Amino acid sequence: MMSRTLRIDEQGVLRTLDQTLLPFERREIALRGVDDCHRAIVTMQVRGAPLIGAVGAWGLALALRDDASDAALHEAWRRLLAARPTAVNLRWALDRAMRRVAPLPPAQRAQAARAEAMAICEADADCNRRIGEHGAALLEALAARLPARRPGAPLNLLTHCNAGRIATLDYGTALAPIYLLHERGVPLHVWVDETRPRNQGASLTAWELAERGVPHTVIVDNAGGLLMRQGRVDAAIVGCDRVAANGDVANKIGTYLKALAARDCGLPFWVACPVSTIDPQAADGDAIPIEERDPREVTHVGGQLADGSVGAVRVVPEGSPVANPGFDVTPARLVSGLVTEHGVFDASAEGVALALAAGGAR
Ligand code: MRU
Repeated sequence: MMSRTLRIDEQGVLRTLDQTLLPFERREIALRGVDDCHRAIVTMQVRGAPLIGAVGAWGLALALRDDASDAALHEAWRRLLAARPTAVNLRWALDRAMRRVAPLPPAQRAQAARAEAMAICEADADCNRRIGEHGAALLEALAARLPARRPGAPLNLLTHCNAGRIATLDYGTALAPIYLLHERGVPLHVWVDETRPRNQGASLTAWELAERGVPHTVIVDNAGGLLMRQGRVDAAIVGCDRVAANGDVANKIGTYLKALAARDCGLPFWVACPVSTIDPQAADGDAIPIEERDPREVTHVGGQLADGSVGAVRVVPEGSPVANPGFDVTPARLVSGLVTEHGVFDASAEGVALALAAGGAR
């Protein structure tokens, strides 16, 4: 057992929730080999930077169980790495596992890779718990600074996409402080961006928050600016797929516009991520690869149909060209701080260097 998101069952099979079915159906899938892990990442049955990394590491371990030769190791690493390009946690986890197993004789590799995958999972849950504590301290300090409001009035937070417990091994990154404050009885309310085209906010974040009883409201992606201007948002907090060496951050498409609106309204815009999301090899945001996704995600909207079945309906005329970049880059100057497991760091070259040093730079 590792977490509710990713677990080993009694038969030793790796199981995870199929996130493409949420919130309508809660069904686990079995990941029995490297092909299953690769497919789950590509089809977004698993998604979210830390979870992609963990499943990548398990994919490598399962590949080595079947064939522990040098050729198989390098082929599995290459194939898994190509599954999704933007979240650097995938490369981080694969490289970590590779460093551990490559020097070993083939007979010892599968077990060592499995132990490494397990360690990555355990460390992620612990990271997120600590991100939750650092983020909660920030939010509590913010609440104390806000002008006196009606007693019991909630702290209003806005989040984009899903950076919750199903995007990680547990707790989440952006949602970890929210869960912690909710458990402590601090009144809060979350504005949840729907996050077109795949609607991870509407489908996944809303589902997670509802499961834990956290007050929330789903809004269309373009509503955040109005709500910020109306004083109905106190801060924005999002997750992240890659932090460049200068503090620029890549996250789900639409994040940048929220950061711009937050800056215009004088609101904090925090980015929560483990140090494993920092890519010191990317000098700035321009060096971060942006995933271009299937145009069908734009031309069609998925959801529950009137007869209860789950399907997709076309919303774009046949023949209209579409573009579908999956992520955008928010410049460091718009980020109020990087909330990591080692504390809150400036989104700047200095802050990133300090965060890496705190995490034992790689
Ligand atoms: O395309 P997705 O759903 O994998 O994108 C996820 C995000 O953008 C998250 O904010 C990010 O991975 C952080 S998850 C803790």
